[in-house]
Amino acid sequence: MSRLRSAEWYAGDDRNAYIHRAWMRRGLPDDALDGSRPQIAIANTASDLTPCNRHLDEVAEHVSRGVWEAGGVPHNLPVVSLGETQVRPTAMLWRNMAAMAIEEMLRANPIDGVVLLGGCDKTIPALLMAAASVDLPAVVVPGGPMLTGTFRGVPLGCGTDVWRLSEEVRAGTLSEQAFLDSESSMIRSRGHCNTMGTASTMALLAEALGMTLPGTAGIPAADSRLLARAHASGLLAVDIVHAGRRPSDVITAASLHNAIVTLAATGGSTNAVVHLLAVAGRLGVPLTLDDFDRVGAAVPLLVDLQPAGRFLMEDLHRAGGLAAVLREVSHLLDPSAITVTGAPLMATAASGTIWDESVIRPFASPVQPDAGIAVLRGNLAPAGAIIKPAAATPSLLRHRGPALVFDSIEDFHARIDDPALDVDENTVLVLRGCGPKGYPGMPEVSNMPLPEKLLRRGVRDMLRICDGRMSGTAYGTVVLHVAPEAAAGGPLDRIRTGDPVVLDVPARTLDVDVPQAELDARPPAQALLDGLARPRRGWERLYVDTVLGADTGADCDFLLGSSGPRVSRESH
Ligand code: FES
Repeated sequence: MSRLRSAEWYAGDDRNAYIHRAWMRRGLPDDALDGSRPQIAIANTASDLTPCNRHLDEVAEHVSRGVWEAGGVPHNLPVVSLGETQVRPTAMLWRNMAAMAIEEMLRANPIDGVVLLGGCDKTIPALLMAAASVDLPAVVVPGGPMLTGTFRGVPLGCGTDVWRLSEEVRAGTLSEQAFLDSESSMIRSRGHCNTMGTASTMALLAEALGMTLPGTAGIPAADSRLLARAHASGLLAVDIVHAGRRPSDVITAASLHNAIVTLAATGGSTNAVVHLLAVAGRLGVPLTLDDFDRVGAAVPLLVDLQPAGRFLMEDLHRAGGLAAVLREVSHLLDPSAITVTGAPLMATAASGTIWDESVIRPFASPVQPDAGIAVLRGNLAPAGAIIKPAAATPSLLRHRGPALVFDSIEDFHARIDDPALDVDENTVLVLRGCGPKGYPGMPEVSNMPLPEKLLRRGVRDMLRICDGRMSGTAYGTVVLHVAPEAAAGGPLDRIRTGDPVVLDVPARTLDVDVPQAELDARPPAQALLDGLARPRRGWERLYVDTVLGADTGADCDFLLGSSGPRVSRESH
């Protein structure tokens, strides 16, 4: 076995080794720090203010048992955590900061490998980005989805049903009291959102990338089998240190291909696009927006989960989980990809069985024939925009209508329910100033609520266009991630209310039907410029100055690539 990284701190008889060992002993066995036993960090996003991850301390305890059993030494390492529903102005503003802080703490400390504990939306992406940049042996343990809640005899989809029920209130078909009554039924147990939102998607994609112990992603948080997998992941963490297997060995062009296939087959969140692009950017693996369309567009939707379908994550696990899905699409997977165990992902696929075909459909009888993410380009989105056709109204996938433009989400809320607003079901709602630089942080506001007066007439979907993101639990005909964003000088800043917008998803185009010379001659909208945030200090300022476009993953320019695990200087 080659010399452990941690031995640079602990091995030897000199004064520095003395200092490192002496301060760490505190009851550890004598041989724990002799330089021969792998030191395993448990990067733990448990936090009382990240309710979806609150249970991860218990998961960490079981990881620790596995690490001890395998001869390693576990170290709980609390890291920056992000509660999607809690942090302002939007959790995405802090994803890169969390990834940077985790990266630096993994590099700075005497560890040989890391177990990454995440759950809520941004936590697994941030952990993966950090691990990719440090490139120490790493394995992910997703915290698992919550159990299915019910209200008035029917299941409640976490997130998705908040959007649906609140629209019913605005449409006048559900009372406010009934809406409030549903609140206590929404979250039934520990765990993250139980729809195919971003947290569920990123857990499944972490496994499709090969970064989990196979069979772990999707186990409900309250299921004791998750704790057994946590224990086994602790054993694995020591094993991969001995094997020298790093994220760069696992996350490759082949595994990213497989993640995109999985994203489409499961009907996963559009947010996965920016997260996978960002992870690839940390490893220098070429991945572009167009790869999502090229690889995923013809993949059928096999999983009938909310928001695109009916069931929830507990049902997916019961029906066979990710392995069953992978088996159905195994002919579309790149067989060269391995998992963190060293075995090919194809071995996971071969182990899958569908136990309930109403939840996981066979390849031959999918929920929808093509479910991937479509990438659009045109004079409104020269660098690209995306739409999830599976969550859209088919008749709106080819649409021409007049734009109704909003310069900020506040502008939108102030005017959308004005009875005098000139809007009908053909109108195209355009919201700008919500990209990474513009908001800042690229919030999940693209699925704008429809005007109340149209809801009351029975309208349930309209074409909406935005440079922001959309919650993975949301649905509708929404073009999002428009790039370049308006705040970065993208042409979205020139469109005016009344301009004809033309969407053609089959042709992959998004345009405003205004002569290019006229568009070029228009100044950026003054109301947009007036509304843009100009942070004066702290992370927000650094972020606005350095964040890149959604089309490349919205990472910061100075965080691209790898720092590597080596830190040679020391202060003692
Ligand atoms: Fe945490 Fe949905 S709010 S996963």
